[in-house]
Amino acid sequence: MISVREIDPADLALFDEWYDALRAGVVAGREAALVVGREALGFSLRNPGPLKRRLAVGAFEDDRVLGAMLFEYRLTDNLDTVEVEIDVPPQHRRRGIGTALWQWAVRRAAQLGRTIFQTEVGVPSEPWPGAEFAGHLGFSVEHVEDHLVVPLPYDEVLLDDLRRTAGVLDGYRLTSWAGVCPPEHQQAYADLHTAMDHDVPTGGMTREVVPWTVEKLQASEQRIDRSYLALVTMAHTLSGEPAGYTLMYLPRGDDSHAQQDDTLVLREHRGHNLGTHLKLANLDQLAKHRKTQRYLHTWTALSNGPMQKVNARFGFRSIEEHRELELTYPRLRPAARAVVLDPADRILLVRFEFPSGPLWATPGGGLEADESLRDGLHRELQEEIGLDAPDELQHLWHQEVVAEGHATGYDGVINDYFLVRTEPFTVGGTLTETELQAENVHGHRWWTLEELLTSEARFAPRALPQLVQDLLESGPPTTPTQVSL
Ligand SMILES: CC(C)(COP(=O)(O)OP(=O)(O)OC[C@H]1O[C@@H](n2cnc3c(N)ncnc32)[C@H](O)[C@@H]1OP(=O)(O)O)[C@@H](O)C(=O)NCCC(=O)NCCS
Repeated sequence: MISVREIDPADLALFDEWYDALRAGVVAGREAALVVGREALGFSLRNPGPLKRRLAVGAFEDDRVLGAMLFEYRLTDNLDTVEVEIDVPPQHRRRGIGTALWQWAVRRAAQLGRTIFQTEVGVPSEPWPGAEFAGHLGFSVEHVEDHLVVPLPYDEVLLDDLRRTAGVLDGYRLTSWAGVCPPEHQQAYADLHTAMDHDVPTGGMTREVVPWTVEKLQASEQRIDRSYLALVTMAHTLSGEPAGYTLMYLPRGDDSHAQQDDTLVLREHRGHNLGTHLKLANLDQLAKHRKTQRYLHTWTALSNGPMQKVNARFGFRSIEEHRELELTYPRLRPAARAVVLDPADRILLVRFEFPSGPLWATPGGGLEADESLRDGLHRELQEEIGLDAPDELQHLWHQEVVAEGHATGYDGVINDYFLVRTEPFTVGGTLTETELQAENVHGHRWWTLEELLTSEARFAPRALPQLVQDLLESGPPTTPTQVSL
């Protein structure tokens, strides 16, 4: 049975196992996939910054991690968005593990009130599992870049050739540094970052651009500097106006890969070969600081003709498409529900009275914003029927219903159903009858399977009799069964 839960990144043995699963999922079948380093990711997860929350989520079977997800969201901007990355090692694929992790993401995003999911997939050939999976979930491709690499150390003959053809840099001077930005350049460097964020093509991806300030730059660089050495070259006019920059990262804990990140030449300074000069100067820095890295990576929009030309001149070769994908979800209210079975395999259902008529449903209810499934289920069961939820939850069914009238203020609901086996007990929760009635609850009843199968009553889910029959005959499913209304 697969269960999905957040892992504590301070549990180093567990983090290692989770990271191994993530890495194995990312690199499979790709020539030079770039994976965030173990140290860098561990540090980032254990030391959350003020701008972004990152959660490590694992899919477990018998306490072994079979799949990994990074679930991230920004705290001060892009407040409707979450980013997810789901990675399942090849030997565990096509068992529904990716889907189980996705269901966790859908529920947590709903708890956070966020509706836009974003993800990225490296696609070296078609058909590709990640692209098929994301397409199956409903994601659409909003932006495509080439993922390019050049082998390191850099070919000196090519560099000499590039220096010769680039000619003399006229009207500009270049400043290079390694590490964090020197104080005298911080304002200009922050402004160039803002210009970059406005300029960089992102296709149809939803992105709110927030201007960089010196404080934000300092905070961001300090965090990054722990795990990456930044190599930067900046161009100024002779009167000191900033004209552009290029930025490369040498991951401190990765002996194979270096990253060519941003390169920007401000519009009014284009056409002077400045991009080439910036890159050449930064490659001189790379020669000084590189240790063992064998690949330099970069990404360029397919539509960005000028940069594609510069990349080709610098010997970059495309190894895969880098796709950015997005999916907008309806606003759904997440709830945890219990399939309560007694020793005689009778199920406990509560009766709702709605204007449309009575409805028999499993006990449980809506999760609060920061509440775990287990805590939410426990609270709801205590309130409604006076029963403890088990510590280990067996996840049976996942249901997403988009329809009006299921939860006020929402477009629908997400219900996750868990198995609760119990000894006979007297049903009676902490809520009074009047309080229950205010939530449309008017009584409860234990049902045998036979009674469910022969009843004309309306159940939630509608297929409850069949689902309970399958559960009693075949036991809990390995991954949650998707059920409809
Ligand atoms: C994408 C990935 C996470 C899927 O994990 P998984 O555990 O195999 O996914 P599931 O078993 O839940 O697949 C769900 C559905 O996705 C689709 N799918 C997944 N892999 C597929 C493939 N190789 N070919 C075609 N369809 C595929 C199918 O519709 C599948 O349902 P089915 O098996 O009933 O036909 C895994 O292949 C992976 O880690 N890839 C590398 C990382 C990546 O690209 N992640 C996606 C971006 S977040």
